[in-house]
Amino acid sequence: MRLAKYLAAAGVASRRKSEQIIAMGRVEVNGAVITVPQHRVETGDLVTVDGREVRLEQKCYLLLDKPAGFLSTVSDPHGRPTVLDLVGRSPTRLYPVGRLDQDTTGLLLLTNDGELAYRLTHPRFGVKKRYQAWVKGIPAPAVLHRMARGVLLEEGMTAPAKVRLLRQGRGRALLEIVLIEGRKRQVKRICAACGHPVERLRRTGFAFLTAEGLESGAFRPLSGAEVRRLYRLVGLPLACLS
Ligand code: URA
Repeated sequence: MRLAKYLAAAGVASRRKSEQIIAMGRVEVNGAVITVPQHRVETGDLVTVDGREVRLEQKCYLLLDKPAGFLSTVSDPHGRPTVLDLVGRSPTRLYPVGRLDQDTTGLLLLTNDGELAYRLTHPRFGVKKRYQAWVKGIPAPAVLHRMARGVLLEEGMTAPAKVRLLRQGRGRALLEIVLIEGRKRQVKRICAACGHPVERLRRTGFAFLTAEGLESGAFRPLSGAEVRRLYRLVGLPLACLS
């Protein structure tokens, strides 16, 4: 297995970040510093990052229904509660796949499977994230089309999305928005750019996963069948599933 993949599989960081860690000269294989992410790791090799041994861990996949008020980060310098406080201590280093804002509720996957996490979040793999957003005002059909076609944000156009009006009343509307991107505050910025600020946001779907049977703040492990289905969805060989 290539070194960057090995580090991602071991839960050190995403594959991209692992490549940076390798390029920085922080990784040794059998005592020699390796700066090439493509270096092949063989069974029995001793891999260290900053002098600490890194082993392939048992992979773990948790699906959480995130309540409002929790950060989707591993730790917070200001001591605010994070999603890891909800799932408790784990023998492996779990991290969230993508992000949800502190006030956003809904589905968040936590894993130590760096390669799968990378593919689930990169727009190239087209994995759908489904949101329900209560917005101010009732967007006209032309505005819904604009949101769906793509909106110019400061860093460029958003990818096409699916947008539907689910409910309306009392000067508010409930929209369903399906994205394949995960830019920072993307739903809120799309809606605000179209004149309909988001009042409440929930992620209701992540790939084929839904929050069915999960209460707010609760989590469950993915089944083996669900993990294999995610692997197939992003084109990862099942042989990578250790
Ligand atoms: N889009 C947002 O604006 N916020 C989120 O938390 C997720 C998607």
